[in-house]
Amino acid sequence: MRILSGIQPSGRLHLGNYFGMMEPAIRLQDEGEAYYFIADYHSLTSIHDPSELRYNVRDVAIDFLACGLDPQKAVFFRQSDVPEVTELTWILSCLTPMGLLERCHSYKDKIAQGISPSHGLFAYPVLMAADILIYNSDLVPVGKDQKQHIEVTRDIAQKFNDRYGEGEALLTIPEPRIREDSAAVPGLDGRKMSKSYDNTIALFEDEKALKKKVMRITTDSTPVEDPKNPDDSYIVMLYKLVATPNEVEEMEIAFRRGGQGYGHFKKLLLEKLLEYFAPMRAKRAELEQNNAYVEDVLQNGAEQARAVAQKTLLRVRKAVGL
Ligand code: TYM
Repeated sequence: MRILSGIQPSGRLHLGNYFGMMEPAIRLQDEGEAYYFIADYHSLTSIHDPSELRYNVRDVAIDFLACGLDPQKAVFFRQSDVPEVTELTWILSCLTPMGLLERCHSYKDKIAQGISPSHGLFAYPVLMAADILIYNSDLVPVGKDQKQHIEVTRDIAQKFNDRYGEGEALLTIPEPRIREDSAAVPGLDGRKMSKSYDNTIALFEDEKALKKKVMRITTDSTPVEDPKNPDDSYIVMLYKLVATPNEVEEMEIAFRRGGQGYGHFKKLLLEKLLEYFAPMRAKRAELEQNNAYVEDVLQNGAEQARAVAQKTLLRVRKAVGL
């Protein structure tokens, strides 16, 4: 089984990225052939400063390795080190209906935010389809916000097979894998945690900044002594990701009992966050000192990924008559 996923280097990785994709992806590296990459081509839709892009790519590589991506088990690479994917993107573009892309929520959201769209932003899901299809991926672990893009990928692959396959499945139809309890991690304001909403908690925030952020989590104005509802509290939702079921139950009981303010619960969340990420923080500090190792991992990964991509592209070129 081939497992594949990508992550954009568009800023510091946050809890949404971790629990939505990285943690499930890291667990899956024991269950099949895992291919994970840094989607730097995709980031060009939003980052136009070359040094920022280079910095972010290195940062994401270090974060992912610190969190447990094991280069002995998973192929880890930079998307742009396999330029074949852009050729497949063009070929797939020629059979992708405009309407399919016009319906994509993430595109529509960006427009709603007032971003003036480039062709790249519009065509983004076709590049993502090429990412998935060029490595013959069976399973794609992602957060809920990417589900529609996997559906688009399946549509495109099916169209390609129908038009060129002569009864054969030239491209593998992938399945999404979405972890139910963290499909959409809420941000500080309760909307989906996302860099574009400025509501993120970065994985490796320094302690002071982390504290400030946790204290910013939106709550209602129930007085300290009154009972509180844990079911729609963003504090509890985030706590569930890092605490044990017993600890979560204790917090829920304390919410309902009343007598403690939100500040108290935020402190408990802060402690758990620090505890949960402490080993990864230590590993990160080590990797920070070892640029050569990180670069080596990415180059090795690229070599392996490229060999697979070239084979698929050869098959595709032949099928379409190039
Ligand atoms: P990106 O970089 O926006 O996010 C990376 C992964 O993190 C997940 N995620 C979340 N999950 C739960 N709750 C949240 N608040 C949250 N925020 C982010 C995303 O769902 C994603 O899985 N287009 C992709 C990158 C990509 C890709 C691919 C993914 C490019 N090619 C091929 C899979 C396969 C993206 O922008 O993810």
